Amino acid sequence: MLKPHGQEQLLRFWGELDDAGRQQLARQIEAVDFEQIAALYEQRSETHDWAALARRASPPHAVRIADRIGKNADEGRRRGAEALAAGKVGVLLVAGGQGSRLGFAHAKGLFPIGPVSGASLLQIHFEKTLVTARRHGASVPLYMMTSPVTHDEQVAFLQEHDRFGISAEDVVLFCQGTMPAVDAASGKLLLAERDSLFLSPDGHGGTVAALSASGALPDMRRRGIEHLFYLQVDNPLAPIGDTEFIGDHLIADSDFTSMACAKQTPHDRLGNFARIDGRLHVIEYSDLPDDVAERRDASGSLVFWAGSVAIHIFRVAFIERMLALKDALPFHIARKKVPHVNDVGERVEPKKPNALKFERFIFDLLPHANNPLVVEYAEQEVFAPVKNAPGARRDTPEYVQRFMVGQHRDWLRAAGTRVADGVAVEISPRWALDAEGVAARADRPRSIDKTTYLNDAI
Ligand code: UTP
Repeated sequence: MLKPHGQEQLLRFWGELDDAGRQQLARQIEAVDFEQIAALYEQRSETHDWAALARRASPPHAVRIADRIGKNADEGRRRGAEALAAGKVGVLLVAGGQGSRLGFAHAKGLFPIGPVSGASLLQIHFEKTLVTARRHGASVPLYMMTSPVTHDEQVAFLQEHDRFGISAEDVVLFCQGTMPAVDAASGKLLLAERDSLFLSPDGHGGTVAALSASGALPDMRRRGIEHLFYLQVDNPLAPIGDTEFIGDHLIADSDFTSMACAKQTPHDRLGNFARIDGRLHVIEYSDLPDDVAERRDASGSLVFWAGSVAIHIFRVAFIERMLALKDALPFHIARKKVPHVNDVGERVEPKKPNALKFERFIFDLLPHANNPLVVEYAEQEVFAPVKNAPGARRDTPEYVQRFMVGQHRDWLRAAGTRVADGVAVEISPRWALDAEGVAARADRPRSIDKTTYLNDAI
């Protein structure tokens, strides 16, 4: 099987493996599509000419913040609430990434991000989902994608915490696929150990195939789930169940609606929403040429203002349609440092990128979507991802906690509570889901002068 593909090196240590090692390696090798890997390796230097595409791109159709006031917002909220109450909306949480930049020893979902409580990312997302369901009096199932790297630990953690109050029936866990890494110079697959391939999760775009392989789609059909609110585990600000966002998606009759934040500078490290030849795309920041990124309109605003914050709503029927379309999601090829076992059995810890990894991205679904829509939100309301270890300029745990405290302080102040400057305050989703939830609490404190965690049993 390996010979026609020139990959016999994978069996170099076969003679010294025990039965379990042989079985593991054989299973992993059987699961690899060697033709696909060879084809991807061949394409490694073919790059999409994003520069040319970006030069003929135009900004996306979007609902801007200024449009989202008054009557239109009310209508959006009404439609969103209706869909939730009818049990048509599920949550899709992706938590399969390796979290390599953060350098946390566990799956990122376990990271204690709560600035006062130390609540984990998973606790926050699960409680938001639970409270959304309670608020609308319907079930809001949570579909959570793990990967072989993060599965066992997250399953055990959720079990230990009783899924943070969500019933077992309303949590559907499914594991995404993996892709091997290949040596950049030769295209040969790398071994992580003598009895194991180097495999990594196949990107958040792996969600589509994993939804299908796991049986989650029939589960959605059975329950009557028509739309999925997609978020990534690293963003505790993701406004799960935001009725206006869901409503805008429904009003536009969209297959795929994305949340955007206005970029602060032309070179913000966010994907850029752009319309190219009538279809909506996300152009990665590294692919957007400087002159295009810096383009401004007559009023001085950035033309490509819309940065992606990885929060979307998809129609379930759209995902099903995409499954029938082979290669709807292309692989992106990244040069990475991949530690491995070399031909003579030594461990190699590369100092420079030595390998190619293959990943799919969820936003590549966008060009296939009918009536795609972008909806603008203020960054401080919806987006602060935990990406980097302490010391980085942004997206560190401290940075995210500052956003969380800032948001909760704003909610309280807007509802009339006096919060002293510089005081850390955190609101559990169980106490209040959002600004509206805070305003509705009759037991809201009149003033807060010391570190406070507002929490509630449900
Ligand atoms: P990132 O691409 O930022 O990766 O994922 P990461 O794993 O969090 O961190 P690094 O790059 O290794 O430092 C964004 C979101 O997509 C999920 C992650 O769990 C995170 O929620 N993701 C990413 C997956 O679910 N699967 C993947 O294969 C990749």
